[in-house]
Amino acid sequence: MRRLKPKRESWGSRLGIIMAVAGSAVGLGNFLRFPVQAAGNGGGAFMIPYFVALLVLGIPLVWIEWALGRYGGGFEHGTAPGIFHSLLQKNRFVKYFGVIGIFGPFVIFIYYTFIESWTLGYSFYSLKGVLAQLHDQSSIQAFLKGYQGLEQNSFFSNIGPAYLFFIATFFLNIFVIYYGIRGGIEVLCKIALPVLFLFGIILAVRVLTLGAPDPARPDWNLVNGLGFLWNPDFSALKSAKVWLAAAGQIFFTLSVGIGVILTYASYLSRGDDVALSGLTAVSMNEFAEVILGGCIIIPAAFVFFGPVDVQAIAKQGAFDLGFVTMPLILGKIPLAAVLSFLWFALLFMAGVTSSVSLAQPAVAFLEDEFDISRKKAVGIFAVVSFVLCQPAIFFLSRGVVNELDFWGGTFCLVLFGTVETILFAWVFGMDRAWEEIHHGADIAVPRVYKFIIRYVTPVFLLVILGFWFYQEGL
Ligand code: PHE
Repeated sequence: MRRLKPKRESWGSRLGIIMAVAGSAVGLGNFLRFPVQAAGNGGGAFMIPYFVALLVLGIPLVWIEWALGRYGGGFEHGTAPGIFHSLLQKNRFVKYFGVIGIFGPFVIFIYYTFIESWTLGYSFYSLKGVLAQLHDQSSIQAFLKGYQGLEQNSFFSNIGPAYLFFIATFFLNIFVIYYGIRGGIEVLCKIALPVLFLFGIILAVRVLTLGAPDPARPDWNLVNGLGFLWNPDFSALKSAKVWLAAAGQIFFTLSVGIGVILTYASYLSRGDDVALSGLTAVSMNEFAEVILGGCIIIPAAFVFFGPVDVQAIAKQGAFDLGFVTMPLILGKIPLAAVLSFLWFALLFMAGVTSSVSLAQPAVAFLEDEFDISRKKAVGIFAVVSFVLCQPAIFFLSRGVVNELDFWGGTFCLVLFGTVETILFAWVFGMDRAWEEIHHGADIAVPRVYKFIIRYVTPVFLLVILGFWFYQEGL
């Protein structure tokens, strides 16, 4: 006899799901990826395509995913294949498009948790005072390489502690998912997110009061540091690359286009609001990204290293900026150990509230579609992802992370976002879609969004995809 399915889980409160979605959105991307993208793509001018992408891609996709997720949850489906199927039951093939919505987050989970585990290790070594003793770039670089256990075998002996921190991080993730939506993810995000904001505000205030620390270099001051990131270089707007980078950053930072929000929203009840809740989570993310992310790392690096070096460091990417430059900077000001602990603990909390959201689609898929218990689903997920993390740990080079980040963290998001938008606005139908977004809503979405979701969002997405295919010669 077929076992009676237990009722699907649900969120404990409205605040709970908003914090969980904001927790997924606020991640390493806000503090490491955003400043590098902004500094490298026209500074203040980057904010123009960034806000355009937020308004015509990000926010519409957030509403689409919240509405679609809640709709699918009503059919007891929490992941893209089932949700797409419930949207269009006549079509047997549409569900296969949804596979990206499980596979994509799973791929990101594999490398994201590993990088997240460095932030835990770095928090520990900050508190121990080890990081504050490394005063030059090369010793921190050596520490980082050894710590990663990558690339240079001479530092390989350090893989031991790195591995321990990975195990701790991995099992913390599993533990949270095991306790479920309400008892695990919601509890974690309600605690970690406020603490993260507090640490971020402390760090931002500290950086904003740095002034010009080197008397010999009065022009390396905070105002110029902020200007370095925010002064617009309008010529950058002519470059398609800058527009792509802005769209990519919006997708990554809001966690849209990958099936994660779909899954979270599937645990809503039919009468719950999606319009205002979705917008609230977006606002929290933007505060963390533009205000906190924009005020910490680049201005701080500027006042100590000057414009030329910051440009060079930003070119090397987010890793060096976060894991090499930041400890060096903090090492130069009083209370270095405490501040560097705040920085890495902030990154760790931002990371863990995002990585659990990357794990949940695979777990929900096993539970919903194979009718197995959460315990079993989490067990299977833990074993498979643990095995797949091993090559990532031992053979991962920055090149591979960048490659995975592009395909898993950028390309897949845009592709999946396009499929979702077309399905929702055109196949399901814009009138029904509009009604879905408004069902139980606490705000009225401006009517112009009916037009945007129907025409502007899909056209913008198709142009981006077309451009990529053209550029990559695919
Ligand atoms: N939004 C997260 C960040 O900014 C990353 C993420 C992407 C999480 C996609 C879930 C899904 O770091």
